[in-house]
Amino acid sequence: MNITITRNPNPATPPAGDYGFGSKFTPHMFLLDWKDGQWRDPRIVPYGPFTLDPAAKVLHYGQEIFEGMKAYRNGADGSVHMFRADRNIRRFNISCERMCMPQVDPDLFMRALNMLIDLDRDWVPESPNALYIRPTMISTQVGLGVKASTEYVFFIIIGPVGSYFAGGISPLKLKVEEKYVRSAPGGTGYAKTGGNYAAALLPIQLAQKAGYDNIIWLDAREKKYVEEMGAMNIAFVYEDRIISAPTGDTILDGVTRDSVGILLKDMGYNWVEEHPAIAEVIADAHSGKLKEVLACGTAAVVTPVGLIHFQGQDHTIGDGKEGPITEKLRKTLTGIHAGTSEHHPEWIFKVPQVD
Ligand SMILES: Cc1ncc(COP(=O)(O)O)c(C=O)c1O
Repeated sequence: MNITITRNPNPATPPAGDYGFGSKFTPHMFLLDWKDGQWRDPRIVPYGPFTLDPAAKVLHYGQEIFEGMKAYRNGADGSVHMFRADRNIRRFNISCERMCMPQVDPDLFMRALNMLIDLDRDWVPESPNALYIRPTMISTQVGLGVKASTEYVFFIIIGPVGSYFAGGISPLKLKVEEKYVRSAPGGTGYAKTGGNYAAALLPIQLAQKAGYDNIIWLDAREKKYVEEMGAMNIAFVYEDRIISAPTGDTILDGVTRDSVGILLKDMGYNWVEEHPAIAEVIADAHSGKLKEVLACGTAAVVTPVGLIHFQGQDHTIGDGKEGPITEKLRKTLTGIHAGTSEHHPEWIFKVPQVD
């Protein structure tokens, strides 16, 4: 399928500095419609609002999925590349399957990303800032029957975002969520669907009101084992191993978590995927067996956790500052993002320049 381009007649100029997160978008977006059992009309058009019928299914039953990924500018030659775009495309199609939505051909997906980013290439800021990429699919069929939609729109919007570390490294303070759960076995935890995030808003807001940055989710069955965070995965650094929960069907299979596991193994560490029991984690923080805790995700890359609140008490991790393994990982990964590291060239998807 050919992707057509309608250029924005009045493109804005890219903003200078202070990008924030998710509030600035480039002059173009990609659109693709699903109708009569097939994808139709892949096109790049000027960025702008949609018209949706008030009875469109997405507005009532939340049949929606999305991805979050980044493109970076190479510090040496100015070229632009996506980080592990193949993994995000794969995860998007896994989410499609769970949410009863039609999958997008990975080749078309990749071409759409390349063409859109190339067209708005000037908007890719200098590293460690990045271009955030938000592929999304919504169900648009009109009708209130609770059934999978017969019509969908797939779209991609992109925009510059600032570095999470712009104000320096400040270790996270996390509250273990002991009442609410994010996902249960057999649920939608492994899919990147809006409802998972809507259900998390209240517990995250309560934790933030109490002075914490975010929450740690426990398993739904026993509320004993650490699963992940609001929008990041989490790992626990011991003297002889680094533990993160296996992803399974209740946890989002983070691209950053996967990269962290591979980099740690490259560095000779023992990366173990098993369920960390929260009571042990806290006891080990006090005994000193637990050295560091790190959070990882596309937005924050790798960031230290300095404190965990559990059963009414705050527990400091190590000395509450960034530990050496977290720092080494953060620097290695941000180096790969910036194109200044030679590690894992297969993670770099260079955006071809057409004109
Ligand atoms: C619930 C959840 N877990 C983990 C992650 C980390 O995933 P990734 O590293 O692919 O950004 C995210 C971010 O997308 C998330 O929303």
